[in-house]
Amino acid sequence: MTPTPAERAAALRHRIDDANRRYHELDAPDITDAEYDALVRELEALEAEHPQLAGPDSPTRRVGAVPAGRFPPVVHAVPMLSLGNAFEDSEVGDFVRRIRERLDRDELVFSAEPKLDGLAISLRYEHGVFVQGATRGDGATGEDVTANLRTIAVIPPKLAGSGWPDVLEVRGEVYMARADFERWNEHARLHGGKVLANPRNGAAGSLRQLDPKVSAQRPLSFYAYGVGMVEGGALPATHSATLAKLRDWGFPVSDLAAVVHGSDGLLDYYRRIGEARDGLPFDIDGVVYKLDDHAGQREMGFVSRAPRWALAHKFPAQEQTTVVESIEVNVGRTGAVTPWALMQPVQVGGVTVSRATLHNADHVARLDVRNGDTVVVRRAGDVIPEVVQVVADRRPPGAQPWAMPMACPVCGAEVVREEGAAVWRCSGELSCPAQLVQTVFHFASRRAMDIDGLGERYIESLAEFGQLRSVADLYRLTLDDLLEMKRRADERDGTTPETVKAGKVATRWAENLVEAIDRSRDTTLARFLYALGIEHVGESTAKALAQWFGDLEVVRRLPWPLFKRVPDIGGEVARAIGHFLDQPGNQQVIDQLLERGVRIGDTRAPNPKLGQDLDLATLLVDLEIPKVTAIRAAQLASAFADAQALLDAPVHNLVTAGLPGESANALVAWLEDEAHASLLLRSAQAQAALRARLPARSERVAGPLEGKTVVLTGTLSTMARDEAKERLEALGAKAAGSVSKKTSFVVAGEAAGSKLAKAEELGVEVWDEARLLAFLEQQR
Ligand code: IVH
Repeated sequence: MTPTPAERAAALRHRIDDANRRYHELDAPDITDAEYDALVRELEALEAEHPQLAGPDSPTRRVGAVPAGRFPPVVHAVPMLSLGNAFEDSEVGDFVRRIRERLDRDELVFSAEPKLDGLAISLRYEHGVFVQGATRGDGATGEDVTANLRTIAVIPPKLAGSGWPDVLEVRGEVYMARADFERWNEHARLHGGKVLANPRNGAAGSLRQLDPKVSAQRPLSFYAYGVGMVEGGALPATHSATLAKLRDWGFPVSDLAAVVHGSDGLLDYYRRIGEARDGLPFDIDGVVYKLDDHAGQREMGFVSRAPRWALAHKFPAQEQTTVVESIEVNVGRTGAVTPWALMQPVQVGGVTVSRATLHNADHVARLDVRNGDTVVVRRAGDVIPEVVQVVADRRPPGAQPWAMPMACPVCGAEVVREEGAAVWRCSGELSCPAQLVQTVFHFASRRAMDIDGLGERYIESLAEFGQLRSVADLYRLTLDDLLEMKRRADERDGTTPETVKAGKVATRWAENLVEAIDRSRDTTLARFLYALGIEHVGESTAKALAQWFGDLEVVRRLPWPLFKRVPDIGGEVARAIGHFLDQPGNQQVIDQLLERGVRIGDTRAPNPKLGQDLDLATLLVDLEIPKVTAIRAAQLASAFADAQALLDAPVHNLVTAGLPGESANALVAWLEDEAHASLLLRSAQAQAALRARLPARSERVAGPLEGKTVVLTGTLSTMARDEAKERLEALGAKAAGSVSKKTSFVVAGEAAGSKLAKAEELGVEVWDEARLLAFLEQQR
């Protein structure tokens, strides 16, 4: 049944009152500004048609909400009013016509200003000193937020210049700049702080913090746009001149404010600011037109809650509600897996939006966004549209909480999350097409496989034309492939160079690249491991892996707990390496690299020092089993012959072995997970295999530079310093960055400086390049 006008008006009033309370008191609106405006307009229309429905307490007659009472009340000496809204050009025409008719003037001059989307405040200055600041409240009475306003740097505590009235109330907008808002939220999302739905809520929420210290942490700004009470002095005759005075007295006034003529001037201004809107550093929801001369303003007067001499001309809303059709994930170039929402298309800020970012899994969990939910989407500036809120009471029945998929939607590899980090990652580094460009770029970089001449744009084109599906394809590229890529890329970009010279340059580039790729086939284990681009495996970790395990065939078969045997590798890095190696796609690419001729020249036996720790007790600790400490692990290791025996043991045997009930239960619970049991067995087998590879005592040949510390300085003419360093390290030396008494010798190239001087001062042996070359030659 359709409601009667009285019923509809009552429902609208109730809804608007509730929205007002949420917006003004709770700083937690549940509908967008556009929806709110539509409700008010509907009520206004109803009341215009049925004047008997418009009681004195109708929200159409009130401004905002009664203050919530946490702060002392401030009665505004001059009420803080609201503005009438216009959405259509015709309404602006009506506005101008009404003034022209009432004032009987042909030419009208207006001050036009951006309408900042923040919070209205009034600042009271007595004899040039800031004494009190208040929110708008219900227009007649606001809240005393002086202490919080004092924390805003751009609000002058004392007026500058001279000639100010004895009492001056300055009105303006407190707002949060977009960049500050983004920065605040990024920090909050990563560190679990309060994520703000939009800059306006941020500004309102922080001004209404009871503790000014908390308020001071949130970056707020202020623009002055008018005055309230003025006593003991006079202001200029026009609004624009008043703004100029306010600027002289030290207030920020928007540079975008302008004086314009007639309704054409207003609409021009509207269009100009509308075009600039996305690029502004703050949110605006429209522009404000004000009749410029104060005499005219007085003559026009007020109607209910708004002046007849001013008008807010609104822009399309930057927030809208729509329905989430599904939640998908995107895999970025770096492997970060991020959720986003696919939604019913909706106009936001004048643009159709059908997808919005959900930032990360924590953000989804915090908002609790589910398929079918009605959500508020925000699009402001160049920032990607984002889901900022769920409208809780519009959730369809049976909607299920969202969970991150276990497998990468692009390559199927496992999606994992580091402990404590907000980001989830695809572990298919080598095999995930989404990560291809980044992977190849890193693989080819100087400190990895060192393939010169393969820039990111070329990689992108090779990937685009299907010539490169993994790093292994690099070793199948021919001269013709490269030339074809260049030709197609030029064609695509419309830059086809026809000259003979350009052709020659391209051919030379391709020849050089093919040669560089070929040269890169001969490499070291450390470089190769680094080149794979495993999460957390930088150069030094790659070197450590190479030094300790010595052989790619060993490294690539190890389960993750064994990586913890390398000093400086902890659980997080070990797990990252393990996840990488567990992905069949990654292993396949490693196979292809070897098949296509990549040769690791420095394969050797594992470091003998590993032998000390390849036992069950160490393994049980490395597995990070809850409640199994080093002491418990040692007890278990002495009670059970091996991992299999431990697996077969009933609980009471564990207790007999000396384990407290709590540890025994935790261990049994852990082992009940089949994945854990098989990891234990696999790890024990890997330990055995490693032990078998350790050189027998008699065979152990320490490198000739074992135990020696060397420092390299200056420029060598025959090789890069890094290469010299690697070769010395391969012979057992430790490279250090500075010279001390403990330095065994210093290798000094051309233009060696302070390190050479220091060596001479300390009497440390110095090798020149010739001596280094001779030594390296001997060791071949
Ligand atoms: S003038 C009597 N100028 O818009 C005129 N208001 O609905 C009072 N606002 O919350 C307002 N920018 O805080 C005016 N340049 C501007 C403004 C502006 C933003 C806000 C104001 C109030 C709302 C009016």
